[in-house]
Amino acid sequence: MSSVSVFGAQWGDEGKGKIIDGLARGADVIVRYQGGANAGHTVIVSGAKYVLHLIPSGILHPGKVNVIGNGLAVDPLKFIEEVEGLRARGVKVDGTNLRLSSAAHVIFEHHKRIDLASERWRGVGRIGTTGRGIGPCYADKAARTGLRVADLLEPERCRRRLAAALAEKNALLEQVHGEQPLSLEEQLARYMHLGEVLRPFVGDTGAEVRDAYRRGKHVLFEGAQGALLDIDHGSYPYVTSSNTGSDGIAAGAGFPSRWLDRVVGIAKAYCTRVGEGPFPSEDHGADGVKIREAGNEYGATTGRPRRCGWFDVLAMRYSLELNGADGWIMTNLDVLDSFDEIKVATAYEVGGQMHREWPGAHVDLADVKVHMEGARGWKTDITAVRRYEDLPALTRKYVEWVEKLVGVPIVMLSVGPDRDQVIPRDGLKRALAHA
Ligand code: GDP
Ligand code: IMO
Ligand code: MG
Repeated sequence: MSSVSVFGAQWGDEGKGKIIDGLARGADVIVRYQGGANAGHTVIVSGAKYVLHLIPSGILHPGKVNVIGNGLAVDPLKFIEEVEGLRARGVKVDGTNLRLSSAAHVIFEHHKRIDLASERWRGVGRIGTTGRGIGPCYADKAARTGLRVADLLEPERCRRRLAAALAEKNALLEQVHGEQPLSLEEQLARYMHLGEVLRPFVGDTGAEVRDAYRRGKHVLFEGAQGALLDIDHGSYPYVTSSNTGSDGIAAGAGFPSRWLDRVVGIAKAYCTRVGEGPFPSEDHGADGVKIREAGNEYGATTGRPRRCGWFDVLAMRYSLELNGADGWIMTNLDVLDSFDEIKVATAYEVGGQMHREWPGAHVDLADVKVHMEGARGWKTDITAVRRYEDLPALTRKYVEWVEKLVGVPIVMLSVGPDRDQVIPRDGLKRALAHA
C-alpha cells in the first residue's frame, strides 16, 4: 500500500491535472482535500480536453474512486455542472466512483456575491480572486456559521442554519455592499433541491479513504492551487483560503499525516501567477509574452492571461522543504524549446543584502531585486521525446542544473499537455511508492 501527496509547488497551474491523471493509472483512490472550483485542472487525452474544477483528475479512468474531501468548499451548482458535463461526454460518474464528504462546506449564492463585492472594496489592494466564493465560505467555516453538505440533507437543520446565516449576510449585502438581499425561501428551495442531487455521492469520505488505505489500496492526494498560495505559508494576503500542500491533507481529508508515505511537488520549468500579489521573477518584457503564447498561459477557470516569468529557485526550495517533498516533477519544459537563453532566479537582493534562501514573511516580496542566471537554450522540439537520454544535451544540462540548484531530485519531466507526453527519470518509482 502507499499514499502519495502530489501538490503544486508554485502559484498554481503547474500541470497538476495532467500529472494526476497520468499517475491515477497506478492508483485506486484519488482525493482532493482543499480548495474548490477556484481550481482548473486540465487533462488532455488524445486531443480531447477536460477541465476539472472540483472533481479529482482520476475521474477519466474507469474503476477508480475519486473523493472530494471534507476540506473543500463545494459549490453544488458547479459540482452538478461538472458531473453532467462529464456524463455528456460518455464518462461514467456516479456514487460508486465519485464520493463527496458530508462534512465539506457548501458555497452558497451569498458567498459568491460577497467574494465579488469584497474585491470591489479592496480596490487597488484586491487579491484578484476567482470570484467563486472561496474566501467567504472558508471565513464562515472558521466563524462556525457555515453549512456543510450534510446540512443540505436535513430540511429542519438546513432551514435553521441558512435562516441564521442569511439574516447576517443579507444585512451585509444590503447595508455594506448596496446589493439586493436574497430570499430565504428561494435559496432554501434551490439548495435543498441541489442537496437531493448530491445525496447519492455523499458519505464519510475520511473513513472510506482510511479504510481503503488499510486494505492495501494506493491513495493519491491531488493538491489544488500551489504552495505559494497557501493561506499560512504563501504570500499573504495574496493567497487562497486553504492549506494547499501536503500540510492540508490531514485536516482536509481525514487522513493522518503519519500515514502519508511520499510527497511529490509539481512545478513548471518557468513560473506563472494569476491574480494580484508579488511575483519576484515575473518578466514584464518580451520573454514574458513569449512564454504566455508558447505555453498558452490563460487561466483554466477564469480565462485571465497568466503573468509569466522565470523559474525561481528560492521559491521552489522553500515550497519543497515546507511540504517535505521526496522529489518533484518539472512540467512544460517544451514551452522553452524556442528560447535562445533561459533564465533562472537564483538570489534576491533586499536592502543591499543578498538572499539565497526564501526570505520569509519579514520581507515584502514586492521589494526584492531578483538576481538571474542564464542557460543556453536547446532550440529543438522536444515534445516527441519519451526517454531522458533522447533529450538534447543542452536540455539535460538545463534540467540537471536546475535540479542541483533546487537540491531535490526531479523524478519526471512533462513535455506537452497530452497524458502521454512525459519522460520518467530514475527515482520515479522510489518517489511514488514506499513498499
Ligand atoms: P493545474 O491547475 O495545475 O492542473 O494546471 P492547468 O491545467 O491550470 O494549467 C496547465 C496548462 O498547461 C494546461 O493548459 C495544460 O494542458 C498544459 N500543460 C500541462 N503540462 C504541459 C506540458 O508539459 N507542456 C505544455 N506545453 N503544456 C502543458
Ligand atoms: P489551480 O488548482 C492559479 C488564485 C487567484 C487569486 C488567489 C485567491 O488550477 O492551480 P480565490 O478565488 O482562491 O480566493 O483566489 O488565488 N488562484 C489560483 N491561481 N491556479 C489556481 O488553481 C488558483 N486558485 C486560486 O487567482 O490570486
Ligand atoms: Mg489550474
